[in-house]
Amino acid sequence: MQKAWWKESVVYQIYPRSFRDSNGDGIGDINGIIEKLDYLKGLGIDVIWLSPVYQSPNDDNGYDISDYQQIMNDFGTMEDWEKLLDEIHSRDMKLIMDLVVNHSSDEHYWFTESRKSKDNPYRDYYIWRPGKDGKEPNNWESTFSGSAWELDPVTDEYYLHIFSKKQPDLNWENPKLRQEIYDMMKWWLDKGIDGFRMDVINFISKVPELPDAPNPNGEKYVSGSRYFMNGPRIHEFLQEMHREVLAGYDIMTVGEMPGVNVEEATLYTNLERNELQMVFQFEHMDLDSAPGGKWNLKPLDLRDLKQSITKWQTGLHGVGWNSLYLNNHDQPRVVSRFGDDQHYRVESAKMLATFLHMLQGTPYIYQGEEIGMTNVRFESIDEYKDIEILNMYKEKVIDGNENPEKVMESIYVKGRDNARTPFQWNSNENAGFTTGEPWIKVNPNYKEINAESAVKDPNSIYHYYRELIQLRKKHEIIVYGDYQLLHPESQQDFSYLRTLNGKKLLVITNFTDKEIEWTLPENIDFTPKEKLIGNYPDNNSLEVTSINLRPYEAMVFLGE
Ligand code: GLC
Ligand code: CA
Repeated sequence: MQKAWWKESVVYQIYPRSFRDSNGDGIGDINGIIEKLDYLKGLGIDVIWLSPVYQSPNDDNGYDISDYQQIMNDFGTMEDWEKLLDEIHSRDMKLIMDLVVNHSSDEHYWFTESRKSKDNPYRDYYIWRPGKDGKEPNNWESTFSGSAWELDPVTDEYYLHIFSKKQPDLNWENPKLRQEIYDMMKWWLDKGIDGFRMDVINFISKVPELPDAPNPNGEKYVSGSRYFMNGPRIHEFLQEMHREVLAGYDIMTVGEMPGVNVEEATLYTNLERNELQMVFQFEHMDLDSAPGGKWNLKPLDLRDLKQSITKWQTGLHGVGWNSLYLNNHDQPRVVSRFGDDQHYRVESAKMLATFLHMLQGTPYIYQGEEIGMTNVRFESIDEYKDIEILNMYKEKVIDGNENPEKVMESIYVKGRDNARTPFQWNSNENAGFTTGEPWIKVNPNYKEINAESAVKDPNSIYHYYRELIQLRKKHEIIVYGDYQLLHPESQQDFSYLRTLNGKKLLVITNFTDKEIEWTLPENIDFTPKEKLIGNYPDNNSLEVTSINLRPYEAMVFLGE
């Protein structure tokens, strides 16, 4: 297998609005990040992925960009950003920037021009269509509720927005638009950044006819994703981007790709095809949703998780590369989701980290994950900020007749603001995030859960993550070894064996809050030599044929 620095790296995602506020206006900012770089270096991470810091009216917290080459005032200045890059590099870390080019803000110059007239030179930078029988051009639904089309009175035509109406989709069929994006990307790379995380990048090629989506239940709007996910020209566009931009730099690229399957992911990430290095797939993040979408709650069946992870581990082995994540700014906190944030918060957070960090792929840690931050339950809908939550609530409760308690419960379990409460630095007011009024409320558990106490406590989740990161640096088998699932039918443990050049790594995790009996399958030949890590510090036995696992216990053995 081809070796590469980005395969051996651990990435840390910063959501700047919620990370650290340096000037007391309640909003995290670039100088706040600079203050905390030593903390990140101490954790041992290699790469920082910074969610958008570009100029934006903040309809979707910066994922609606009005100028790709300016820094948002809330976050600081371009000089601050340049200092950030220097400070990251001087600590021997790297920086990858978020690239949001499926859509821009409706306040971007391109769009304010585009909407002026049908013959404006920028008209074709976006996707405009006349209405059909006095209605929207098709029946597609926006990810953030309602129609994916907005009627613009100036020219009496509709524009497409898969996300909010302030996020019009860019028209990648237009070669001039593509060239502008490539120039912008080169401009950032020439400033010295180390790569891009590409927002919903498999949405950029749409089936040109934009057909109605099948609608067997006669709903008002339905998902049109089959016509814009992994669309007809997607590989051509990515290969062009590679040729025009990426090929010239030693950088890291990861494409966010909802709806991607293993077969497509091998195409996107096979290096010989000159597209991307890895993708964020969503299969394991959709396992606790019933049909009908993320708000329809369903408990996770561990066998589904095993099946999915195993398919990706074996499917991309040797032909592509996996990204590994359980958290990001769009997902609820994993310790609340797949662990137990009440009775076994520390144990289950460490177990989930073990499970993820011993897999093949590049691991991503989302801010706060390393101290076991949890989901939040705000009493009133008014305390939520996320456009996805607010639009959904309006559609279901205010305009519809769904039970508000039931909808609030789904927000508590799945809402994106779970990930966006301020980072909990210490037990001071507002968790040390700000001296002012935070833009979103702090999770009330910050007195118990915060970075200061985690760094002081050698048994904390934070130190456990540090160890996992160090193990990855020390043992090639963790990065490059192949993968074999054990006990596919068990609903209690998730265990697997990695192998590289005669060495073996045995990973055992208990996903339940019960004691369970674990046995090494008879057909598995494994002689333990060393216990590398475990989340119950008192247990150093090398016995692996039969083990009594305690609640959420995890252990990793190196052997032959
Ligand atoms: C991606 C981002 C998400 C954003 C959406 C639209 O999924 O991660 O935060 O709302 O794209 O840009
Ligand atoms: Ca600030």
